[in-house]
Amino acid sequence: MEGVSSVDDSLMQEEVLEGLSKPQKRLPSKFFYDERGSDLFEQITLLDEYYLTDCEKEILQNDISEIADCIGLGVMLIELGSGSSYKTRFLLEELSGLSTYIPVDISEEFLLKTVNGLRLEYPKISIIPVFADYTSHFELPISGSNNQKQVVFFPGSTIGNFNPTEAKAFLKNIAEITGKDSEMLIGVDLKKDVEVLEAAYNDPQGITARFNKNMLMHINDELDANFDIELFDHHAFYNQEAGRIEMHLVSSQKQTVTISNQKIRFEKGESIHTENSYKYSLQEFEELVGGRYSVEKVWTDERDYFSLQYLVKK
Ligand code: AVI
Repeated sequence: MEGVSSVDDSLMQEEVLEGLSKPQKRLPSKFFYDERGSDLFEQITLLDEYYLTDCEKEILQNDISEIADCIGLGVMLIELGSGSSYKTRFLLEELSGLSTYIPVDISEEFLLKTVNGLRLEYPKISIIPVFADYTSHFELPISGSNNQKQVVFFPGSTIGNFNPTEAKAFLKNIAEITGKDSEMLIGVDLKKDVEVLEAAYNDPQGITARFNKNMLMHINDELDANFDIELFDHHAFYNQEAGRIEMHLVSSQKQTVTISNQKIRFEKGESIHTENSYKYSLQEFEELVGGRYSVEKVWTDERDYFSLQYLVKK
């Protein structure tokens, strides 16, 4: 089974065809993450240029005792998009008294692989995987009605992959799914020099380019489609006005692609917009979450590139 798509092939087809029929062609960034895409993303997190992961690790290492104080004892930790096991292991190691860990991920294979390893390493923690698209409604396996505090861990600045409207809808959804006193530890990438931002999405080894193009291979695998990935170029840049990195795939020639018997035409130089990665100032992020959560604590790395923020429901 290949992540979301095997479960929802017809939904995927609908979303792909709808996105590609827009004047600015679009594909949802969740389609990056089949097994190959998740592996490529793990490789991105190891790149020197991709500062986000190292900065978040630095914060987790330096400020873990304050973070643990905020989280408290005996809690249920719910991790959304539990891809990077390093951060998970770090928290499981440091949070004494953690009773339940619920990783939620769209890629079932990746999730089960991680969970099998974690169960062997942490036999005292009850680990219950949830295979779900956390941008839609999903059920937690344990209700919030017992007295256990639920803390949502959403690292990596994945919130930045939503536009502000989507981010607010996401926060609403999570606030509704979790118990009334639930809290959140969230990674948020911060505004900084454009050169640093753009280098993070244009690594010289071309891993990010492969990650971007893998979306077309994923669509070829899941739908009856014939994208030639050699005929699309990776393009990532900072859109200053919108405050976001945009990733595109640019058609290097005039061409026609067939997806489920539908013909999609591309002009030379025409792009598919595959991802946004919003960067926030601390104040902008506080305003974004303000309708539902208050920011209780913010930790940043030494260069102030990245933040981990502790949110409590209002
Ligand atoms: C998952 N997400 C936070 C990454 C980001 O930085 O927006 C995805 C990514 N795209 C290209 N490189 C990494």
